[in-house]
Amino acid sequence: MKRATWLLFVGLLLIGLAVPGCSKDSGKLTVATDATWPPFEYVNTDTKAIEGFDIDVMTAIAQEAGLDIEFVNVAWDPLLTGVAQGTYDMAISSITITEDRKKDMLFSDPYFAAGQIVVVGINESTITGPGNLAGVVGAQIGTTGAFEIEKISGTTLKTYDDIGFAFQDLMNGQIVAVVCDNPVALGYVGENPTKLKIVGDVFTDEYYGIAVAKRNSDLIDDLNKAIAALKAKGTFDQLADKWL
Ligand code: ARG
Repeated sequence: MKRATWLLFVGLLLIGLAVPGCSKDSGKLTVATDATWPPFEYVNTDTKAIEGFDIDVMTAIAQEAGLDIEFVNVAWDPLLTGVAQGTYDMAISSITITEDRKKDMLFSDPYFAAGQIVVVGINESTITGPGNLAGVVGAQIGTTGAFEIEKISGTTLKTYDDIGFAFQDLMNGQIVAVVCDNPVALGYVGENPTKLKIVGDVFTDEYYGIAVAKRNSDLIDDLNKAIAALKAKGTFDQLADKWL
């Protein structure tokens, strides 16, 4: 082999070795979010940027912990499987910490408390809360809201990839109610006060955590320290005032 050919060969070999290494440890940690859940994570229609309470929380945590992060917008189902399979390093997406999910992924300490609530059309008079919910009820697919509807006999679950479409169906009379996290429900009702109303109280106790791929177990400690520091500084209260 001529010296030049040989050098070229070795060069290509090195590039080949370097490229996969590059994409893996180039520093930025990928944080998945399903930006269909205002005011926690949604796409700003004017700027096309992902924003919301969770985005600010994660940005503050990353800054506190000295982590270089990059948000990726993914649908809810692939988000959970992606974290479980290690495709994404982490996810912040109003994710309720559940025993079932803990089998597939790690969670930070809780950073927010929420619960399910029922939303109906403004003229609804029979459904007064989760206790007498009946008929076709909408929720985002694979969420704790959907799991709660499945537990209530007399209801038929209709799932949506985007909770916004569930509220649209509710306003069009296609379904009788929507079940979702209370701050999200309040947001949609607040924007459509002549069409939607909340009935009954929050009926579950849920805590949001940052989901972490199992291979990144060393991140949990950093995240928890940052969460504690930001709680002590009042950052969470400030962000709640800003977004909720
Ligand atoms: N808290 C609920 C759950 O964990 C719903 C979260 C949905 N989040 C989202 N970004 N779409 O199941």
